[in-house]
Amino acid sequence: MAVRELKPGVYSVGAIDWHRRLFDELIPLPHGTSYNSYLIKGSEKTVLVDTVDPSKEQELLSNLQKSGVNRIDYIVANHAEQDHSGIIPGLLRLYPEARVLTNQKCRDMLRDLLGIHEEKVLTITDRSTISLGDRTLEFIFAPWVHWPETMFTYSREDKILFSCDFLGSHFASSSLFANNEAKVYEGAKRYYAEIMMPFRKSINRHLEIIKGLDVEMIAPSHGPVYEETETILSLCREWVSDSVNNKVVIIYVSMHGSTEKMVSHLIDALIARGIHVKPFNLTGADLGELAISLIDPATIVIASPTVLVGAHPEVAYAVSLVNALRPKLKFGVIIGSYGWAGKMVEQITAMLSSLKLEMFEPVLVKGHPRETDFQAIDRLADEILRKHRDAGLMTE
Ligand code: FEO
Repeated sequence: MAVRELKPGVYSVGAIDWHRRLFDELIPLPHGTSYNSYLIKGSEKTVLVDTVDPSKEQELLSNLQKSGVNRIDYIVANHAEQDHSGIIPGLLRLYPEARVLTNQKCRDMLRDLLGIHEEKVLTITDRSTISLGDRTLEFIFAPWVHWPETMFTYSREDKILFSCDFLGSHFASSSLFANNEAKVYEGAKRYYAEIMMPFRKSINRHLEIIKGLDVEMIAPSHGPVYEETETILSLCREWVSDSVNNKVVIIYVSMHGSTEKMVSHLIDALIARGIHVKPFNLTGADLGELAISLIDPATIVIASPTVLVGAHPEVAYAVSLVNALRPKLKFGVIIGSYGWAGKMVEQITAMLSSLKLEMFEPVLVKGHPRETDFQAIDRLADEILRKHRDAGLMTE
C-alpha cells in the first residue's frame, strides 16, 4: 500500500489485506480488512501510532522507508492484540532508540504476548500528554473496545482521534477516506456486532468522552478513515442505545422438515401481525450477518430438532455465540421437534446465562407438526405481538 497523507505531517503507512477471509479463525471477512498504522512527523519527535499484522510487516517497513524515516522516537500501542502490535518487537530491533508508549495494562500484555521488555516501554496515564514539538498527543484510556487495555490517542493540533479498533471496519479499500460510502458503514456495523457489542455500556462512556473533544477526523486501526465524523458517531450511538425494535430473529436448523414447517408457520404468523422477521437457517449461514441482525431486535426464537438428547450442534454453536455477544434482546423462546425425548430446552436455557431474557413457553412437537401444533405457534405469535405492543415497539 502506498503512503498517504491524512493531514500535513500525518501519514497512513499500514497495509491492506484484500483477501483475508477469516479473523481469529472465526469471524468472516467478506470484504477483507486493513491494518492501519499512522506516522506522525512532529517538529521534534516522530511517532508511529499502532503497527500492522505480522503477515504485513514488510509492507509497513517499506512504507517507513518511502516516508524517509530513519528514526522513530515513539511507537504508540493503543491495543496489544497482535494485528496491531505483533511487529513491535521487530521494529524495536530496527529502531533501537524507539520507546513504546502505552498504559500499564497494555505494557503487561505486550510483555506476556510478545516478550517486549518493560525497559522499552514508557508507561503513560489516562489523559496524559506528550509533546512532539509542534503537536501534542493525548492518551485517553478506553477499556473494552474490545480488550481491557485499549486506549485512544488524540492529536490535539491535528484534531485527529486515533481510535484503535473502535469505529473500525473490516473493509479493504483503495480509498484512504470513507467518503460516506455505504459499504464502509455496513462494514463498521458488522465489526461492531462481531466484537464490540458485548461492551456497549463501556462504549457509551467512550462516546461521551469523544463528544468533549474537538475531533475533525477519526482514524481507526481497521478500514477507511472518517473525514466526516458525525455519521459514524451517530450510527454507533444508535447501535449502543438501549432501544430495541419490533423485530424477531429466528435461528434454526431442520433435519427432516418438522422444525422447518414450524419456523415457516411462525414467520407467516409474525408477518401477519406486523412484526419484522429475520430467519437464519444455520446450515451455511454467515455468522457476521447473524451478529448484525442481533444489534436491535426485541426477540429471538431458537428452533432446533433434537439430536440424541440435546439441540442440534449447529444451534448449540449459534446459541453460544449469541450468549457471548450479549445483544440487548428482551424476549426469547425455544421451539423445535423431537422423536422420543430430550433435554433441549434445559440445555439451551442454561447456555443463555449472560442474557436477561423473558422466555415464552416453549413449543415442542413430537414428529411432524399437526394442526394443534400450528395453533400453538399462532398463540406464540400472539404472545410476541402482545409483548412488543406493551413495550411500545408497534409504531407502524
Ligand atoms: Fe484489530 Fe483487537 O485487534
